Amino acid sequence: MPLPASSQFQFTPDLGICRVLNGMWQVSGAHGRIDPERAVEAMFRYHDAGFTTWDLADHYGPAEDLIGGFRQRFAAERGVERLSGIQAFTKWVPYPGPMTRPIVENAIAVSLRRMQVDRLDLLQFHWWDYGDRRYLDALKHLADLRNEGKIRHLALTNFDTEHLGTIVDASIRIVSNQVQYSLVDRRPAAKMAAFCEQHDIELLTYGTVLGGLLSERYLGRAEPGRGDLVTASLQKYKNVIDAWGGWALFRELLAALKAIADKHGASIANIGTRYILDQRAVAGVIIGARLGVAEHIADNARVFDLALDAEDVAAIQPVLAKSRYLMRLIGDCGDEYRR
Ligand SMILES: NC(=O)c1ccc[n+]([C@@H]2O[C@H](COP(=O)([O-])OP(=O)(O)OC[C@H]3O[C@@H](n4cnc5c(N)ncnc54)[C@H](OP(=O)(O)O)[C@@H]3O)[C@@H](O)[C@H]2O)c1
Repeated sequence: MPLPASSQFQFTPDLGICRVLNGMWQVSGAHGRIDPERAVEAMFRYHDAGFTTWDLADHYGPAEDLIGGFRQRFAAERGVERLSGIQAFTKWVPYPGPMTRPIVENAIAVSLRRMQVDRLDLLQFHWWDYGDRRYLDALKHLADLRNEGKIRHLALTNFDTEHLGTIVDASIRIVSNQVQYSLVDRRPAAKMAAFCEQHDIELLTYGTVLGGLLSERYLGRAEPGRGDLVTASLQKYKNVIDAWGGWALFRELLAALKAIADKHGASIANIGTRYILDQRAVAGVIIGARLGVAEHIADNARVFDLALDAEDVAAIQPVLAKSRYLMRLIGDCGDEYRR
């Protein structure tokens, strides 16, 4: 089931990606138990379907080790030369503290070892406290490590527009910022996207299918209680929906999306994903995969054949117009991590 050419994106001159990335927070343990064997089997299925790009982090439980295990088996079965068809984007989310060269270098060495790579395709850096300007020290060391060949490209996650600007002003080349972006959380459209376009920075988005809430499974359903939200992802995005306008409005959104989905022979998740893929500066949407537990490969593959027309976009607007403005309520991208 090869994906159409439209699934591909030239992320950087030397790196192509699949526009739907496989998210690995879902293997962290907070989304159900993951069996490593079954997880690696599932990784082959994603890869073979054309979903060749992975998003992970140092703190997503065994995610980096799973990439290592997958690469090892892949090389043994298919040849080392084909490893370049896998793209694995990790993150470094350090505890606040001094950001010396040895500290930064050691952290990167751990990821290199766990993922069994000589060079990280993409290192996405997170920082908890803008009051502590040592994020610039960390980024300068990371840029040096990139120049020395340990990292192919340097990126960020959850940085707001202002601090992304500070980093650009410091002449540190950043290729992407990973942010929450969905029909419910459209904050990146306020400032971030335009800034990124201006500075040749791509957006990678998460929360786009709202942990699975943006699907037929919740269409017409009564508001789920805390006990029904069995993954950390469902809990996270239910909170976002509550802030945005609540469950009744979300049901309206699901109904509007279902009508569009039916018109295109697609799913609600497809419509939500396509909508974000079509936004300015968006290179890719990350969709979480509970590897070996649940799979949506065939459904998510349909997003590449889908084109939303002006009528579809207009049909969603009346619902969105009733929602609260999250930019005012929460702040710019990533501010929810810094309160
Ligand atoms: N940078 C950050 O701070 C940050 C934060 C959060 C996430 N992320 C990244 O983004 C990734 C995605 O995480 P997320 O929190 O945004 O989760 P998500 O992608 O919104 O939700 C993933 C869940 O959606 C369901 N799903 C996927 N495709 C579907 C489809 N076609 N139809 C119906 N349901 C579908 C699945 O639920 P079931 O498994 O129950 O079927 C899946 O586990 C993470 O793995 C991580 O890589 C980054």
